[in-house]
Amino acid sequence: MVSNDAFAQLLRPLTAADRSQLEDFDCGDEVMNRFLKRWALTEQARRLSRTYLIRQPLPCPGFLTMSAAQVAREWSGLPRRELRYPVASAMFIGRLGVDVRYQGSGLGRSLVRAARLLAFRLPIGCRFVALEVDEANSRAIGLYRSEGFWVPRGYEPDRGRLLMLYDLATTRPAD
Ligand SMILES: CC(C)(COP(=O)(O)OP(=O)(O)OC[C@H]1O[C@@H](n2cnc3c(N)ncnc32)[C@H](O)[C@@H]1OP(=O)(O)O)[C@@H](O)C(=O)NCCC(=O)NCCS
Repeated sequence: MVSNDAFAQLLRPLTAADRSQLEDFDCGDEVMNRFLKRWALTEQARRLSRTYLIRQPLPCPGFLTMSAAQVAREWSGLPRRELRYPVASAMFIGRLGVDVRYQGSGLGRSLVRAARLLAFRLPIGCRFVALEVDEANSRAIGLYRSEGFWVPRGYEPDRGRLLMLYDLATTRPAD
């Protein structure tokens, strides 16, 4: 069990009992809404990702989905002498959304910080927090940049998606 009070205070694991309270969830992005309502539990059962919901208030104001991942050396920015393998360990933020009724009140930032802290405290090697964001999503990109994420040098958007990374070895996330 990962001891992580700040994470546990903000978030709790998604369960089948949450299905009905998620029906009205709307973060303004239909793909994200559909994932939470229709696919998050299935992916969780397949061990492909885990989803966490913001505890309070009810119904759920925001969520976060994470998986284990790898970052190719060329995007990691790490020299060969530091990274002897073609990939570096990472935790991937697959989905993150705040209901439109709560946007602009700091919950998105809290989700990013909680995910980062969890990654930092994982009892396995985890060098980066990685995520992909739509290149047109300036609001999310602004949020991630202001939290210390960057787009790797030379990275070209793949089907409109940008890779962003946070290096857990060079910046220690605040508790
Ligand atoms: C992106 C998202 C998670 C941000 O959540 P949020 O709770 O509104 O974010 P916060 O209130 O923590 O604001 C974080 C930053 O976003 C930016 N921001 C907030 N509201 C904004 C607005 N209306 N316009 C532009 N930027 C804005 C600000 O830089 C803000 O920083 P601040 O704390 O200095 O004001 C939310 O808009 C969302 O769920 N969007 C749809 C799903 C999505 O795009 N997810 C990300 C996919 S990778």
